[in-house]
Formats: sequence, C-alpha cells, structure tokens
Amino acid sequence: MTVTTLLTRCPVVPVVVLDHPDQALPLGKALLAGGIDVVEITLRTDAGLESIRRLAELPGLHVGAGSVLVPDQVDQVVDAGALFVISPGLSVEVVQRCRQRGVVALPGVASASELMTAVSLGLDEVKFFPAGLLGGPAAIRALAAPFTRMSFMPSGGVKAENMADYLAVPAVPAVSGSWMVDPTLLRAGAWDEVTARSADAMARAT
Ligand code: 3PG
Repeated sequence: MTVTTLLTRCPVVPVVVLDHPDQALPLGKALLAGGIDVVEITLRTDAGLESIRRLAELPGLHVGAGSVLVPDQVDQVVDAGALFVISPGLSVEVVQRCRQRGVVALPGVASASELMTAVSLGLDEVKFFPAGLLGGPAAIRALAAPFTRMSFMPSGGVKAENMADYLAVPAVPAVSGSWMVDPTLLRAGAWDEVTARSADAMARAT
C-alpha cells in the first residue's frame, strides 16, 4: 500500500489528538460512518500509541501515525499496527527507518530546499505544513511547478471552508486537518458531530 493509494481513496485525512485510548474505537467508527477510512493518530499524547494499536483492529480503517519525530517512534508505531508515518518535518533518519520497516513515510516540507531533499530520497509525496501560514494553495502551486512529480498533502489551517481551494490544485490529492475531530468533540463524546463533519468534508471533496 502507498500513501497515494490512501490519499486517492480518501481525500480527507483527519489529524487526531486523543486524551485517552478509550476514545479510539468510537472515533474510528464515527469517521467510518462519515465516509472517512484513513486516520492519522498523533503521538502528541500518551494515548497515541495504544490508540493506534486499537484502531489497527478496526475493519475498514487505515490507521497511520502522526507527529513522528525520531526513528525509534517509527518502530513503536509500526509494531502497534500503523500503515503509514507522518512527520511535521523531513528527517532522513525517519524516512529511512520507514523504508526498513516497510511503511510509507509522509514527511512535512515547508520550502523548496526541503523538497530537494525529498526528491533526493526518492519521495514523490509530502505533507505541506503549516499550509495556511506558508501561503495556502498559491504557495503549493508555486512550489509544485519545478517539482512536477511531487504530490502535496496540505495540513495546518485547512478547514471545511477552504479545503476545496486546496484540492483544486492538481498536485494536491488530499488535505488533512483537525476540524472534524476537534479535541472538544472527542472529550464530549460527540461522535455524531464527528460523523456529520466527516460526511460534510467528504461531500466537499468530491
Ligand atoms: C496539525 O499538525 O495539527 C495538523 O496540521 C492539523 O492542523 P489544524 O489543526 O490546523 O487542522
């Protein structure tokens, strides 16, 4: 499986920060009910790793890890069942460990120089982070021009209201963000709202 496969099948990737692993399965079911079958569980909280472990068992859901900063975390999330690894920036060591473990790496880039490094590593897909602050869709159009084979997943500042502007860029197969999985919704157990926002996002993407 490749990230392109994932992003083509699901153009909206939720970025999730969980307080407790018990939130994981209800969250996964709420996303699936809204038509989203790919999820990035971040390691920003202690709940992240166990949540990946639980969601890896949920049929139909493709779970990946986010906020992966160092190679040892690659081992942890792959052992927990993560199918892909997303990072806020580009670490050669993390990308190489992903290759060794047989999972797809989606590192973050914010500049042409980092894209040069991504190309030198043989990557053709990156996260563009933080997309809104870096100039939004116009910035991706400009950066994509010389990197003709690169696909970008913008993240950071992407919302329901602007996601179509990003997806209108040919080099953008998918967007990611947290608006459908806002931590306040997860804490409140507002799973119907997660499903509603997910369905709305998928409707806007197609
Ligand atoms: C992040 O790293 O938090 C993601 O890029 C999501 O950003 P968002 O909260 O602005 O959607």
